[in-house]
Amino acid sequence: VNHNLNALARHRAELAAAGIELTDLTDTNPTRHGLFDPAILDVLARYLTRAARYEPTPRGPWPARASLAERFGGDPDDYWLCASTSEAYGWLFSAFAAAGQAVAVPAPGYPLIEPLAQLHSLTTIDYRSWYLHPSGWELDRDGLDRALATPGVALAVAVNPNNPTGAYADPWLTQACARRRAPLIADEVFFPFQVGAPDLGPVGTRAQPSRLAGHDEVVSFGLDGLSKLLAAPQLKLGWIRLSGPAVERTAAAERLDQVADTYLSVNSLVALALPELLTLADASVTRITARLRGNLATAQRRLGHYRLRTVDGGWMALLDVPPLMPPDDLVIALMDRAGLAVHPGWFYDLPDDALALSLLPEESQFDEACQRLTAGLEVLAADAGLSATGPQYD
Ligand SMILES: Cc1ncc(COP(=O)(O)O)c(C=O)c1O
Repeated sequence: VNHNLNALARHRAELAAAGIELTDLTDTNPTRHGLFDPAILDVLARYLTRAARYEPTPRGPWPARASLAERFGGDPDDYWLCASTSEAYGWLFSAFAAAGQAVAVPAPGYPLIEPLAQLHSLTTIDYRSWYLHPSGWELDRDGLDRALATPGVALAVAVNPNNPTGAYADPWLTQACARRRAPLIADEVFFPFQVGAPDLGPVGTRAQPSRLAGHDEVVSFGLDGLSKLLAAPQLKLGWIRLSGPAVERTAAAERLDQVADTYLSVNSLVALALPELLTLADASVTRITARLRGNLATAQRRLGHYRLRTVDGGWMALLDVPPLMPPDDLVIALMDRAGLAVHPGWFYDLPDDALALSLLPEESQFDEACQRLTAGLEVLAADAGLSATGPQYD
């Protein structure tokens, strides 16, 4: 199938130019969904005077790193501040891989990782997870091991929980990286957003999620930042937490210091305010998680006659819909007939026709979007002379 993201974006732009606004289930920008905490601005205002002086250091101000160590563990010297986790990926790719080498990445997965690797002249090699209903996603352990053993693979990436599958990482991943001596980039920006709960399906019986960052047996770079933790991507503050065996950690720290010292990309105001900003994090996570859980319950109620895949964490849900037409045609038809924007699964490298839905919109907007989606699918199925809820998902 020849997928064409530009065609989807172009169609959407044409509708916008004609004054047609779509209900958006692709958007995961928290500041557009009433999730930005205005108290953040008050905190920043208190640090304005201190930010008049510029005293850069490669890792960022010590109090900021001390507050991270206190919250997440480790030592303040294990942390490097940066402008975003996207930038952190870039730093790590340039510091720990050489042009022409490869990075093992999860599939399905976050679509930004591949272009970030390409910017650093690296290729990506996929390791897959497979969905089993309703038990959830399972890592293809042999596939991961093969990817790590491939000549030229310099780094592994894991997203915990993964975007868009919402699956927490298999702890086996750390052992596999340790055995193959592959440094691990552990992107844990969604870690605290655990949406699975006993009353939301079979997840209550699943193992408690565990972090990949902070282990001694493998060199790992834990990534996190304020984009998700505080629903504040515009603050542009992320961080890397380095862990691993002592000797390798020392060498890695030197490389990271060089890169960080070359860019010095951290905004002084936000870095100085970080210890106080972090005091807002628990309330922010609680507020966002309540939104995600509420919307997931709505999706189950409104769309349950399709197959909503098991979600354990993160900001997305995946919905299996009947194969009424090729995925891009379906996405365009949903824009035209239901006034709704959704992402096709292939956008995240899903091997099938699932739709990816953002769980972030305000509750009433999300509910309306789910109703539009069901109505749209029914109309399209009727047009095609099919049942919208075929036996395939019973
Ligand atoms: C898996 C994952 N990592 C990182 C990010 C980006 O975070 P940042 O704003 O810190 O670059 C996102 C944003 O959607 C994401 O989905």
